[in-house]
Amino acid sequence: MSPAPAVPTVNVAIIGGGLMGREIAAAIQRWPALIDHPVRPRLTAVCDINPAALDWFDQIDTVTTKVTDHRDLLDDDSIDVVYVAVRHDLHERIYTDVIAAGKSLLAEKPFGIDGSAARSIMAAIAAHPESFVRVSSEMPFFPGAQWAIDYVRSGALGRIVQARNAFLHSSDTDVTKPVNWKRQNRFCGEAGVMNDLGLHAWHVPLRLGWAPETVYAQLQNIVTERPGPDGTNVPCDTWDNATLHCWSRHEGERFPLTTAMKRIDPGQKNTWEFEAIGLDGGVRFSTSNPKRVEVFAKVDVPGVGREQAWQQLDVGSQSVWPTVTGGIFESGFSDSILQMWAAYLAERHGALGDRFGTVRPEEAAHTHAVFAAASASAADGRAHDVAPLTR
Ligand SMILES: NC(=O)c1ccc[n+]([C@@H]2O[C@H](COP(=O)([O-])OP(=O)(O)OC[C@H]3O[C@@H](n4cnc5c(N)ncnc54)[C@H](O)[C@@H]3O)[C@@H](O)[C@H]2O)c1
Repeated sequence: MSPAPAVPTVNVAIIGGGLMGREIAAAIQRWPALIDHPVRPRLTAVCDINPAALDWFDQIDTVTTKVTDHRDLLDDDSIDVVYVAVRHDLHERIYTDVIAAGKSLLAEKPFGIDGSAARSIMAAIAAHPESFVRVSSEMPFFPGAQWAIDYVRSGALGRIVQARNAFLHSSDTDVTKPVNWKRQNRFCGEAGVMNDLGLHAWHVPLRLGWAPETVYAQLQNIVTERPGPDGTNVPCDTWDNATLHCWSRHEGERFPLTTAMKRIDPGQKNTWEFEAIGLDGGVRFSTSNPKRVEVFAKVDVPGVGREQAWQQLDVGSQSVWPTVTGGIFESGFSDSILQMWAAYLAERHGALGDRFGTVRPEEAAHTHAVFAAASASAADGRAHDVAPLTR
C-alpha cells in the first residue's frame, strides 16, 4: 500500500480545557476519518488556569506544552491555530491577545460578552489580517442540517411563508442545580441564554441571508435563584428562555422568522431544529431524530389524487467533508464537531470551495446587534429594528 500523501501539519493550542476544550481535543484525534483533507492538525499545547484541568490532556501524546497563563502560548512560534473555550467575560481579552499575536483563532460563541466586546475583537481582526478567525457552531454540520440548507438554497421553497431555527435544552428544569458562570450575568452577559445558545440558532439564518430587519422578543427568567458554592441560594439573574419573532427577507420577500433559545424546555435534551416552509416546498430537520429529514411536496397519491405530503428521508453519515464512515451510518454530535473543524481548517487553507463554513466574525458580531434589539424589545414590549448585517 502506498503511504498517504504528505500534507502540511497545523499545530493547534487550546485555551480552556473544560467541557469544550476536551471535546475539541478528542475530535482532532479522529482526523484520519476525513478523506483527502488538505492539512493535518496536531494538538501540541493546552492552557487552563486550573492546573488539575490540564491532567486530562496527558493521554494525548502530541501535547508537549501545558501552561496556566495563556500569554505563555502566544510567544511560541510553533503554534498556528488557537481554539479558545473560556467564560464569556474573558473572550475579549484572550481573543484579542491571540489575534494580536498573529495566530489563527477558532473562537467560541458568543464572541465577546456583548456588542462592545465584539467590536473590540473585530478591531483586532482588522489590525491583524494575518489571523484567520472564525467562530464555533457545530450543529449545522449534522448531515440532515446540510440537506435542509441545500434544499433552501436550491430554490425549492418557492415563495417563502415562514421559517424557524431553535436550540432547546431542559438542562435547567432541575431548580436545585447549583448556579455556575453560565447562569450569572456578570460572567455570561446580560443577553443570558441568547449569549449561550443564540449563535446556534442564528448561524444558518444569517448564512442564508436572513438577517432580521425587526425583532420582537419574549425573554423569560424562570428560575431566579440557585444554590451557590455553600448551598445557600444566590441570584441566578440570566434569561433562561428567549423567543425572537423577526421579520426577515428571502429572495426579496418579507417573512416571519422565529428563533428560540431555551435552557428550560421540558422534554428537550439538546435539540437543534430547523424548519422552512414555502408555497412550493418545505423542509424540516431536528437533532432529536438525527437520521431524519422531512420534505414537503404536493404528490399524486394513487387512487386518491393530488395531496399534500411530508415525506421522510433517511440521511446517512456524510456532511461537508467526506469521511471513511460508511455512507449509510448514523452521525452524531462529535461528528459535527469534526466536520466543523474540517471546514475551519480547509477554509483557512483556501480549500473550502463552496462548502458550508464556520461562522464568520461579522456574523457572530451581528448576533449581538440582534440580542441588543431583543433586550430593548423585552424592556418596552415593542418590536425593534436591527441594523443590516455588513460584510
Ligand atoms: N459550541 C458548543 O456547542 C459549546 C458548548 C458549550 C460551551 N460552549 C462555549 O465554550 C466556552 C467555554 O464553555 P465550557 O462549557 O467549555 O466551559 P467550562 O467551564 O467547562 O470550561 C472553561 C475552562 O476555562 C478555564 N479557564 C477559566 N479562565 C481561564 C483563563 N483565564 N485561561 C485559561 N483557562 C481558563 C476553566 O478553568 C475551565 O476549565 C464558552 O464560550 C461557551 O459558550 C460552546
